[in-house]
Amino acid sequence: MIELPSKPVSYSRTIITELMIPSYSNFEGRIHGGILLSLMDKAATACAAKHTGGYCVTVSVDEVSFFHPIEVGEIVTLMASVNYVGNTSLVVGVKVEAENIKTGVLKHTNTTYFNLVAKDELGRLRQVPRLLLENMEDVRRFTEAMIRREFKLQTEVNFTAKTKNIDLIRELPKLKKERCELSFDI
Ligand SMILES: CC(C)(COP(=O)(O)OP(=O)(O)OC[C@H]1O[C@@H](n2cnc3c(N)ncnc32)[C@H](O)[C@@H]1OP(=O)(O)O)[C@@H](O)C(=O)NCCC(=O)NCCS
Repeated sequence: MIELPSKPVSYSRTIITELMIPSYSNFEGRIHGGILLSLMDKAATACAAKHTGGYCVTVSVDEVSFFHPIEVGEIVTLMASVNYVGNTSLVVGVKVEAENIKTGVLKHTNTTYFNLVAKDELGRLRQVPRLLLENMEDVRRFTEAMIRREFKLQTEVNFTAKTKNIDLIRELPKLKKERCELSFDI
């Protein structure tokens, strides 16, 4: 297979800036989490498409935690960059900041990692270009993505080992400490 030319991280860096309008709000009048997820996915996909020079789809999204609520009227900036490339997959980190336009106060609401794969016109997996790391920040992100990948794999292995032959009857006493009740007899 012919190796595609490497592309620098800066080539595909993507920024989306969006005003938070009332139709984005939830019942509390703050921004609905799903709206933000959709914007983050859009930024990640645009960034991945630029790096790979073609169509990419989201395979999984690593843990998403919102540290601060976002209010209607704030300006949200989503900064996406390729953190890591595998063979056909890549990891795009998306940092989200919300700015109050009157006070200028800036909140870092979350950073989330999107795992995507590159596809060709027939929907087959396609090799992605190598990533040219331009500074130590790029090296840190690439290294952290590798470690995150290892941890995820290990977590999956541990979870499968722990749940594979689980004896639910023996687990029942643990539920007594939890906020649930059984509505049936065993
Ligand atoms: C992702 C998908 C291609 C994996 O198919 P597969 O036959 O298991 O392919 P592979 O095991 O060869 O994995 C392909 C790549 O995806 C990566 N991958 C697969 N599952 C992954 C996951 N859960 N998280 C991160 N990366 C993943 C693999 O590590 C591999 O990367 P590499 O080529 O860089 O080493 C397939 O499940 C798919 O097409 N899913 C639908 C994606 C989609 O349509 N998303 C849009 C949302 S509707």
